[in-house]
Amino acid sequence: MKKSIALALLASAFIISCGPKSSAVTGPKFTSSEHLAQGKTVFENSCNRCHKLPDPAKHDDKGWIKTLSRMAPKAKLTDEQHQMVYDYLISVNKK
Ligand code: HEC
Repeated sequence: MKKSIALALLASAFIISCGPKSSAVTGPKFTSSEHLAQGKTVFENSCNRCHKLPDPAKHDDKGWIKTLSRMAPKAKLTDEQHQMVYDYLISVNKK
């Protein structure tokens, strides 16, 4: 009996620690053209307030994870907007 409780606890701890983190953008998620268009709009409206709109080709997919994680809070993006902008950027950054 005790053993099964411990096992259940262990299992739930495992599930929690390995579950998806809601906030961090770690890769592409949305690919529908609707979401990409929305990402483009958010990008064009939010990312030119402090500097000129950056060139999406400035960073590769990995580079944008880092830069956007610094810039999304500055632009006060929600997690969803952050993700949409990321997906938009990596859909147009290919040379
Ligand atoms: C509140 C002001 C502000 C907003 C809004 C903002 N940025 Fe920035 N951004 C900065 C500042 C300040 C720097 C230069 C210092 C630095 O690199 O942290 C910068 C630098 C950058 C750079 C060059 C540095 C690098 O790592 O390549 C890129 C690219 C960039 N921003 C992209 C974005 C994007 C994309 C958005 C929209 C999500 C955005 N920024 C919104 C203030 C802002």
